Amino acid sequence: MKKLLGVILVIVMALFGLAACTNGGANTSDNGSNITGESGDKNQTPGEGENKGETDKKVLVVYFSATNTTKGVAQKIQTATGSAIYEIVPAVPYTSADLNYNTDCRANREQNDSSARPAISGSVEDIGQYSTVFIGYPIWWGQAPKIIYTFLESYDFSGKTLIPFCTSGSSPIGSSATNLHSLTPNATWLDGQRFSGSAGQSAINSWVNGLNY
Ligand SMILES: Cc1cc2nc3c(=O)[nH]c(=O)nc-3n(C[C@H](O)[C@H](O)[C@H](O)COP(=O)(O)O)c2cc1C
Repeated sequence: MKKLLGVILVIVMALFGLAACTNGGANTSDNGSNITGESGDKNQTPGEGENKGETDKKVLVVYFSATNTTKGVAQKIQTATGSAIYEIVPAVPYTSADLNYNTDCRANREQNDSSARPAISGSVEDIGQYSTVFIGYPIWWGQAPKIIYTFLESYDFSGKTLIPFCTSGSSPIGSSATNLHSLTPNATWLDGQRFSGSAGQSAINSWVNGLNY
């Protein structure tokens, strides 16, 4: 009798052991899918679950650059993020006389006029697809050029994350970025960063990699 009980016990233990192994295999497989983010739940249609997560993270780099310094930085941010890029093109281009800040030039007059909103040529196609927007500009008298104000007032940024960056002769980004916040109700602004025109790709990569967006 004892021998029979012993045999039954061994069979029961063997069956439990097999079941545990089978479950363990299934869990490993599920975890593998989640880690790589490849397949996810087969019942999900594109735009749900993991795929939606990718869509939600779509990034756009927007910049204005009168003399191409900010443009170079914007392109490096595009490389770092693998994002789309959009240049704010003034409807009336700035000539070098317009930028001659030692005179009563157009740029100075716009910066001194709180209602100035220089017109933009063209527009961003379907801005709704982007969840994060980098916004770059040159510092003009310590502030963002008024055309940046035009841009920010032209779209609905609610629910989006905005990340300002600038170039300058030496001025920090300072209040140029925080003064933009009131133009975009319900957007989240991250701290901005000033770059010199000679900023290299690795400096920009480390800034981008340190951002939480
Ligand atoms: C009208 C005007 C005002 C400027 N004001 C400042 C300033 O306050 N501080 C500063 O460091 N640089 C100032 N600069 C220099 C620009 O910020 C700098 O050259 C910038 O990198 C130019 O960028 P961009 O080539 O993309 O236009 C000014 C330039 C202009 C044209």
